[in-house]
Amino acid sequence: MRALVAARAREPVPPPHGDGPWPLAQPFRVGSLEMPNRVVQAPLAGIGNRVFRQQARRHGAGLVVSEMVAAHGIRHGNRRTRQMLELGQGESPVAIQVFGGDPDVMAEAARVVQDAGADMVDINMGCPVPKIMKTGAGASLLADPERGAAVVRAMADAVDIPVTVKMRRGLVPGDMDPAENARRFEAAGAAMITIHPRAAADEYSGTADHSISARVVKAVEIPVVISGDVMDAAGARDALEMTGAAGVMIGRAALGNPWVLGAIARGEADPRPDPAMVLDELIAFCEDIADLLGPDRSCHYLRKFHAWYLQGRDVPADEVQALMEDPTLDDALDRLRTIRAAA
Ligand SMILES: Cc1cc2nc3c(=O)[nH]c(=O)nc-3n(C[C@H](O)[C@H](O)[C@H](O)COP(=O)(O)O)c2cc1C
Repeated sequence: MRALVAARAREPVPPPHGDGPWPLAQPFRVGSLEMPNRVVQAPLAGIGNRVFRQQARRHGAGLVVSEMVAAHGIRHGNRRTRQMLELGQGESPVAIQVFGGDPDVMAEAARVVQDAGADMVDINMGCPVPKIMKTGAGASLLADPERGAAVVRAMADAVDIPVTVKMRRGLVPGDMDPAENARRFEAAGAAMITIHPRAAADEYSGTADHSISARVVKAVEIPVVISGDVMDAAGARDALEMTGAAGVMIGRAALGNPWVLGAIARGEADPRPDPAMVLDELIAFCEDIADLLGPDRSCHYLRKFHAWYLQGRDVPADEVQALMEDPTLDDALDRLRTIRAAA
C-alpha cells in the first residue's frame, strides 16, 4: 500500500503542450531579487507566522509571505507586532505584508520591515474585513487609487527592497478596472502585483475568475502573481498558461497539505502522503509552534490545523474532534503521538 502511495507521489504532470521544462520550476525575478521557482505561499492572517513560512519554504515554495502586520502596530512597536517581524532560518526569499492607509506610517513600516531583514515588503490592498477597511486600509485603497498610489510611492521612496502590492479586483464585481489600478501602482513604484480576482464583497465565495488576472498581466511590465483557487500542479500549469502570469500563489490548498507546494513546483500529481508521514509532520509543526507562541497561544492556534491535516486521512473523526477540544497542547501532543504509534 505504501509503495503504491509513494509511486503516485512521483507521478509527473505533463507541461503545457506536453513538452519543454515544467514552467513552475523556473526562477523569476522581482527587481534584483531572484525567486527559485514560481510557487508563492499566500499571506494568511492569523496563520502565516515564521514557523508556517519556514515549513512552506522547506516543502518547496519559492517565496513566502507573512500574515498581514499593522503599520500602526509597527509604529507603536508593541511586543506582538515586533514578534511578527522576526524572521527565521531558511525563510528567504520572504516578504512581510503590511496594512495601513497612511503613506507616512506605511513608509515608516517599510523601513522597519527592511531593517528586520525581509527581502520584500508587500502592501495589503485586498483585506475585505470592515474593521480594517474603515481605517482606509486593505481593499479600501482600491476605491481611492490616488491614495493607494501615494502609499506605494512613499514606501518605494523609503526602502531599497522591492515594494509589492496584493490586490483584489475591486470592492464589488465590476466597480472598477483592476488593470487600471495595477498600472497606477506600477507607475508609483510597485515591483510586483499579486491579483486575487475576487471583489472584496465576494470575500472567498464563488470561483476566482483568472480571465481578469490575464488582463492585469497584459496591463503591466512588472511580474504578476495570481491568487485564488489554484489547487494542484495541473491547475497551476493551466492558470499560468491562461494568464501569462509570473507565478501562482497558494493559500487554502496548502493548509494541512504543505506537500502540495513542492508538488506544484516540481510538476507532480497531488502527493497524498500516508498517515504516518502526515502525523510526523503535524507533530513536528506543533512542537515548533509551541516554541514560537508558548503553550496557551499555540494550543489555540493549532486547533484548526488538526482538522486540516487529519480529516480524510484515515484518522477516526472522533480522534480529530478530541484533538480540537484538548484543553492543553501537551494533551493534544500526547494524543497525536498515540495515534502515530498506531499508524
Ligand atoms: C484565513 C485567511 C486569511 C487570509 N489573510 C490574508 C492576509 O493577511 N493578507 C492577504 O493579502 N490575503 C489574505 N488572505 C487571502 C489569501 O492570501 C488568498 O488571496 C486567498 O485565500 C485566495 O487564494 P486560495 O484560493 O489559494 O486560498 C487570506 C485568506 C484566508 C482564507
